[in-house]
Amino acid sequence: MVGRIIAIDGHASTGKSSLAKKLSNEFNCTHINSGSMYRAVTLYMINNNLIKYIKSDTNYLISKLNDVKIEFRKDGGKLKLFLNGENIEKDLNSLVVSNEVSNIAAVPEIRAKLVKLQREIDRSNGIIMDGRDIGSVVFPNADIKLFLTASIEVRAKRRYDELIKKGANVTLNDVIYNIEDRDLKDSNRKTSPLIIDDDAILIDNTNKTISDQVRMIKEIIQSRFYN
Ligand code: CDP
Repeated sequence: MVGRIIAIDGHASTGKSSLAKKLSNEFNCTHINSGSMYRAVTLYMINNNLIKYIKSDTNYLISKLNDVKIEFRKDGGKLKLFLNGENIEKDLNSLVVSNEVSNIAAVPEIRAKLVKLQREIDRSNGIIMDGRDIGSVVFPNADIKLFLTASIEVRAKRRYDELIKKGANVTLNDVIYNIEDRDLKDSNRKTSPLIIDDDAILIDNTNKTISDQVRMIKEIIQSRFYN
């Protein structure tokens, strides 16, 4: 995988990160969940009472971006996301953050800042990055582009179970609403909307386990990189 790039894009809660994580372990390469970066900016804006300006005074919100420092630090061989020096990964998947993140991700200046960071990450060992615009914008020359989708029922149930396990107080309907709302916003925003690239491999994982998907993608990697 040395120097190779795999882009995994797709609809909300399709298991992109879980898949990327497993593949990065198998191939000993870097994994970056770009969604966590948009979530970190959102968390900052919520915690600092700035999220209310998202529509009313976007320029003010943008002016605060300089105060947001996002970095990845190695911890136990893996990269962990730090926001202004603090590991906040456990707070990123809450529904409070999920309900605002697509509005934050639609702001071009925020995207520009994060895309720049994504392109600066060391890819010498090979990188698997997941998100919404990785194959279309961040790395249009990626070696392999995947696009994941699944039925809304299956996606919502997976995310709901995850949240409940963490002790969150949410209903399945809250999760369905959030996922549908994010897909709609992510697909319709002006800057870098979620699209299925012409050269992306479309995977509907409604009826596929994570092991099925890993097996399938390992075959693609073997045939493209090692034959
Ligand atoms: O894991 P899940 O599919 O729920 O979402 P995520 O990957 O954590 O991304 C959260 C949100 O960040 C998405 O709904 C998008 O609004 C935004 N995002 C984006 O715009 N571009 C990316 N490359 C990654 C995420």
